[in-house]
Amino acid sequence: MSKIAILEIDGNKFELPVIVGSENEAAVDISKLRDISGVITLDPGYKNSGSCKSEITFLDGELGILRYRGYSIEELAEKSHFLEVSYLIIFGELPSVERLEQFENDIRKFTLVSEEMKIILDGFPRTAHPMGVLSALTSALTAFNPKSVDADNEKDMYDAVCKTIAKFLVIATWTYRKSMGYPLNYYDNTIGYVENFMNLMFKLPTGPYTANPIIIDALDKLFILHADHEQNCSTSTVRMVGSSHAGLFASISAGVSALWGPLHGGANQAVLEMLEEIHATGGDADKYLAKAKDKNDPFRLMGFGHRVYKNFDPRAKIIKKAADEVLATLGVNDPILEIAKKLEVSALEDEYFKSRNLYPNVDFYSGIIYRALGIPTDMFTVLFAIGRLPGWIAQWKEMRENKEPIGRPRQIYTGYPLREYVKS
Ligand code: SDX
Repeated sequence: MSKIAILEIDGNKFELPVIVGSENEAAVDISKLRDISGVITLDPGYKNSGSCKSEITFLDGELGILRYRGYSIEELAEKSHFLEVSYLIIFGELPSVERLEQFENDIRKFTLVSEEMKIILDGFPRTAHPMGVLSALTSALTAFNPKSVDADNEKDMYDAVCKTIAKFLVIATWTYRKSMGYPLNYYDNTIGYVENFMNLMFKLPTGPYTANPIIIDALDKLFILHADHEQNCSTSTVRMVGSSHAGLFASISAGVSALWGPLHGGANQAVLEMLEEIHATGGDADKYLAKAKDKNDPFRLMGFGHRVYKNFDPRAKIIKKAADEVLATLGVNDPILEIAKKLEVSALEDEYFKSRNLYPNVDFYSGIIYRALGIPTDMFTVLFAIGRLPGWIAQWKEMRENKEPIGRPRQIYTGYPLREYVKS
């Protein structure tokens, strides 16, 4: 029996359908609300508003559940690898061995980035933040691939997926090479995707380079954990930009910019900077907890809290365990990790954080691993973007395949009523 919601305004009753998802989440469908009642809803930050139906990712913030296409994040992080998970998220099913091999070979067809892109990169100062450069270079890819993706053509869409995954990794690492004044590296089609990331980042022409397999495995797991997260700020941005039928590269470029913010993906860099400041000022974590609780202080405990998770972020649990393992295996004894653990214990015992359900999120421990792997701090959010890329692609593809309407929210006007122009 279909459910309905009844809204009563000034004695008038309006019936609205209630839809229920495959995990029993319920939503009042207000798509006809203004037509039947003349009113709209208002929800700054969309804390209570769903923008779409989606089959890609399910998360339960109360229970700390995260699944990609029905598979738990815990299983995928332990048993799968990043390109397999990327295929799953984008195309909906785990690939056979042969299909995955074909997918990886099809990505390799597009790993050469146009030499003219280097001219654009040359225009940036070495001090430019990598996320700003990445957003610009991603948008610039449109200039070299002007034919916009026909989302209704399976081959066209598939090639765009492979092309984006191939080229995004290369230009992401170029942002680091530019900041270091190093020559730019090329993707090596004879080795794997994550190993290529390490080569593209750290291989120098002055000598041989072999990435540590422990680091490759850790990064592969981290990319899986970042691969999608339903309608977060940057993914909603990718959907919004794509809803105007702007191209895939342009939509992802916008997603990179949204992810950059310190309240979102930029938090992993902000966490490290916060922990380093605590360490540099004597390691007094309680002083920073007090700052985070002080309403007159804009400081927030970076890496804590989440719009949806009101319990532990399941990714944070996996990353915290991986941090312990990777640092022990690499023989890294990082005082920052100890400060993070002390901060976590203090916050989880503190009434302010407990009463607001503020737990460590995905960004709290990821920066500690990245640092142990030799990744520079201002590249942390670039790594988040590399991990999130399959999610952005999948959500853009789903939005176009579902022929979602152009995104255009309403508003409630609170400015001046009509007034006459009087020449002064
Ligand atoms: C990501 O959405 C996603 O899925 C994102 C993400 C993904 O995978 O895409 O998971 C990745 O962005 C993780 C979040 C990374 N950001 C941070 O770590 C930055 C620090 N966290 C916060 O700024 C905050 O928790 C947000 C932005 C993450 C969530 O903010 P909300 O949901 O808008 O919550 P809010 O700001 O309304 O906070 C509710 C209360 C407020 O206090 P009161 O007004 O009720 O007294 O909690 C307080 C806030 O002041 N609060 C914090 C806090 N986070 C919330 N107080 C101190 N430190 C914090 N970190």
